Amino acid sequence: MLAAALLGFAGTTVASNLFAASYSGLVTSLSLTASNDTYHLDSTFESGECGPDPSWLTIDSNRGLLFCLNEGIEYPNGSLSSFTINSDGSLNHVQNTTTIWGPVSAQIYGSATGRRGIALAHYLGSAVTTWLLDGGGRFHLNQEIPYTLDEPGPNAERQDAPHEHEAILDPTGQYILVPDLAADLVRVLAIDPETLKLTPKTPLQVPAGYGPRHGVFYSPYSVACESCTTFFYLVTELASTVEGYQVHYLPDNGGLEFESIYSSNTRGPFDTDRVNAPAEIQISPDNRFLVISNRNDSSFSLPNTASGNDTRIPSDSLSTFELSQTGELKFVQLWPAGGGFPRHFSLNLAGDLLAVGLQSDGIVRVLARDVATGLIGEPIASLDGLGGVSAVVWNDGPGRVSGH
Ligand SMILES: *[C@@H]1O[C@H](CO)[C@@H](O)[C@H](O)[C@H]1NC(C)=O
Ligand SMILES: *[C@@H]1O[C@H](CO)[C@@H](O)[C@H](O)[C@H]1NC(C)=O
Ligand SMILES: *[C@@H]1O[C@H](CO)[C@@H](O)[C@H](O)[C@H]1NC(C)=O
Ligand SMILES: *[C@@H]1O[C@H](CO)[C@@H](O)[C@H](O)[C@H]1NC(C)=O
Ligand SMILES: *[C@@H]1O[C@H](CO)[C@@H](O)[C@H](O)[C@H]1NC(C)=O
Repeated sequence: MLAAALLGFAGTTVASNLFAASYSGLVTSLSLTASNDTYHLDSTFESGECGPDPSWLTIDSNRGLLFCLNEGIEYPNGSLSSFTINSDGSLNHVQNTTTIWGPVSAQIYGSATGRRGIALAHYLGSAVTTWLLDGGGRFHLNQEIPYTLDEPGPNAERQDAPHEHEAILDPTGQYILVPDLAADLVRVLAIDPETLKLTPKTPLQVPAGYGPRHGVFYSPYSVACESCTTFFYLVTELASTVEGYQVHYLPDNGGLEFESIYSSNTRGPFDTDRVNAPAEIQISPDNRFLVISNRNDSSFSLPNTASGNDTRIPSDSLSTFELSQTGELKFVQLWPAGGGFPRHFSLNLAGDLLAVGLQSDGIVRVLARDVATGLIGEPIASLDGLGGVSAVVWNDGPGRVSGH
């Protein structure tokens, strides 16, 4: 098996750890083991200390820290928790602090050797907050930035109040971008390198009613600088599109300009009549492919191996596009995610395994992935009974840590 060969698993038992967050109230440590090309995904540790509604995990592998957001769906507050990661994958709780309502995404930023912060996007509480970090997982509030909306967007139900959905660091480490699903904006916030406070700059406007959710930067030559070629890809949840922009840096930390260069359905040629709500977008570790998860498209039906009879289960999908130096995307594959509502997924550092959290089925699946072609393959291991999975991350590398 390809994944086994690449990871050097063949014949021996090797474990790698993942963490999953779930609206069941748990953060679960998962162990993926391989023995003679047979894989097992097992729960090795559970913590309820993040709070009742864990919505997001940010891993800081370099410092052995895990940050968990509790969305706090029941008004009025959410919370931010930190843990130290032990070598067996278990967690020790460090700090828990009440926040503005509804945090759903966190991004570490600042200097790798100096002062570091974490920025939170608050979906329900219509705000961005920033916190200063020490090296051991403790943090304190730096800044709160509340937003208001003059009038609801075209989708009155979903676009009733500002909904900050993600915090994304640009490749130069100078800006945090925050898609606002209700305002149809991607907010651009300049980072003050001394205080790590954020200052608003001109946002990126998307067409009314599109509902921007998550985004990712792409540096085609793997070089990040103000004059280097930089692209930004944005998933719009309400219009089911992926939007591509060339990014231009204004002088003196003055903001970003976005030139629209690409737009398509997230399912490429496989458009659907169903309401497809794409969720997560990631670039493969080799910087060659873009992967997007599609929720509620029910594109596939799979044999139900658990039932032992021939019932089939509906599956939502994962889309893969090939990246190019011009920023144009080339559709490569639509593939079953292995169940319903793949809200979040993560590629391992080698790029040969993709872990996907299937929120409506309470399952985490690990799918094989061919690094050379970018094609996602069959599930090699799964674990069910996890509740509404909101996030799944690998503990195998620099991951989402800021390198600046
Ligand atoms: C793996 O295969 C080797 C060689 O065939 C065998 O000796 C060993 O018992 C197997 N291990 C497991 C866990 O099945
Ligand atoms: C952290 O805060 C949340 C929300 O108040 C609470 O549910 C959870 O129990 C707290 N965790 C700890 C370890 O105190
Ligand atoms: C908790 O929510 C209330 C109501 O929105 C807000 O006034 C308060 O500042 C929040 N607490 C924290 C610590 O953010
Ligand atoms: C899922 O799709 C169905 C059929 O298009 C639609 O009625 C429903 O509102 C969608 N649900 C979500 C949560 O998007
Ligand atoms: C197949 O198994 C599922 C799950 O156990 C069960 O709900 C369903 O009734 C079974 N279908 C048939 C045709 O036996």
